[in-house]
Amino acid sequence: MDYKSMSVYQIWPRSFCDGNGDGIGDLEGIYAKLEYVASLGVDCIWFSPLYPSPNADFGYDIADYKDIHKDYGTLAQFKKVLDKAHSLGLKVIMDLVVNHSSDENVWFQKGIDPNSPYHDYYFWRKGRGKNGKRPPNNWLSLIDGGAWERNEKTGEYYLHVFAKKQPDLNMDNPRVRNEVKDIMRFWLNMGVDGFREDVITLISKKEGLPNGFPLPAATGMEHYFNGLHVKEYLREFKEDVLDKYDCFVVGEAPMMKPDTALEYIDEKHKTLDLMFHFQHMEADCFLMDFLHTKFNLRKMKKAFSAWQKKLDGKAWNTLYIENHDHPRIVSRYGSEKYRVQSAKMLASMYLLQKGTPFIYQGQEIGMTNIDLDADKFIDIFAKNNSAVFKKLHFSQKWIDRMVKLSCRDNARTPMQWDASENAGFTTGTPWFYVNPNYTEINVKAQEDDPDSVLNFYRKLLAFRKENEVIREGKYKEYCKKSKYIYAYERVWGNVRLLTVNSFTAKGVRFEAPKGYDLEEGELIFQNYAKTPIVNNGFMLRPYETRTYLFHRS
Ligand code: NOJ
Repeated sequence: MDYKSMSVYQIWPRSFCDGNGDGIGDLEGIYAKLEYVASLGVDCIWFSPLYPSPNADFGYDIADYKDIHKDYGTLAQFKKVLDKAHSLGLKVIMDLVVNHSSDENVWFQKGIDPNSPYHDYYFWRKGRGKNGKRPPNNWLSLIDGGAWERNEKTGEYYLHVFAKKQPDLNMDNPRVRNEVKDIMRFWLNMGVDGFREDVITLISKKEGLPNGFPLPAATGMEHYFNGLHVKEYLREFKEDVLDKYDCFVVGEAPMMKPDTALEYIDEKHKTLDLMFHFQHMEADCFLMDFLHTKFNLRKMKKAFSAWQKKLDGKAWNTLYIENHDHPRIVSRYGSEKYRVQSAKMLASMYLLQKGTPFIYQGQEIGMTNIDLDADKFIDIFAKNNSAVFKKLHFSQKWIDRMVKLSCRDNARTPMQWDASENAGFTTGTPWFYVNPNYTEINVKAQEDDPDSVLNFYRKLLAFRKENEVIREGKYKEYCKKSKYIYAYERVWGNVRLLTVNSFTAKGVRFEAPKGYDLEEGELIFQNYAKTPIVNNGFMLRPYETRTYLFHRS
């Protein structure tokens, strides 16, 4: 499948569009909005989990891999959505979460019994010490304190590197791998076009589950990040199933660096087609989103450039600046004060790079974080991190600030369709707070405005399709040392593209790099009215973006 020419739109179903008035986004709502999605100029939809789930982690805890959550509809409705998407020229990929399931999955429930064939689907172990009251090893969960939970009936512990309602599946068990392949076939046979594989680089745990180096909040991670057998298992999925279909997979890979990524995505021996990596999303935090710091442009640029350069000619990159796991990008790397300008600047900044772009619902209209009291946020990461830092005696004021700045709920408020009540998301009571700025920021208002963020995204996406320089052009960064400007060129044949992006509200001057005569360029994307070029340079206004196209004979 030609995923290299695609742009992908991510739908987080609960907050996209409610079709039946119960306050929760659903398939009926999605069905009604498919024309809108197609109108953006994207080629594919990625659905965050639609499966039955107790929603401890909003769908990333799956109770049944072959069905649809009743809040969202039925399998028949999903099929309708799939068929309509296809008829509009949109591919569809599903989220596949198999590092862990829900503890309400029947496999887990049956497997509590040590004599059940499902017991070995998970990591059940006896505790250490007298009476076995100490967990089997010292691992900590990435979000939830200890990584082991004891079952009172059997006295055994199970492993969960995420929340305790997300027990880890034992991928070393061939029966579990067969289940995964079976799930893949189920959806592929129905017609889906691939998968986004959740934390897939964590699926192989070190044999014997040895104690880990005592790292705060992540003890044990060296024993399951990029574990010994991951690539072997991915290859098995590929050879036994994926290669038999016209499909593609994008694997999520936390803490990944480009050199290690190549072990998975190098065209010559790839086990994944694409990979979601995180380095460029860590320019305003330390180790984890919760530890929010001041935005550092150089950190962000370094990450983007490293991935552009190291993958070039070897592997295909992904491009994204938002998803359901991060606060809104305008509120993070841009400016709410200069919302429209910064939303457009951020769009050109990443959409003109090489790779397959992903756009998260609401990003295309420049949605922002929501201003809520910290105790109104419900996400499990925020709740657990708050508890951890409270135990460590951090002040409540500091914790509340971190919650507001980092909480994933910021990106999970209902989609803002129009200025009517509840932003046109539902006729009922929305399941979560609607951002009150919907009266100003909404799809309808932007449809009618040729200068809107929405129409800027459309232009960029169309440009990507029509210009080979985007798919093929060489990348080179300029002004590397600047704390305010991110500039790079893309060169392909006689076409040169130069994009200059300001990340500050101050005025900063940009000087054309050697070999460029700006007067010769055609200004193809900008977010302010044109100003003259002076001495082969210009002053950038707050969050200004300018992209010039040059043709050389
Ligand atoms: C990554 C998903 O994107 C996130 O939402 C989830 O909480 C974790 N994986 C655990 O499944």
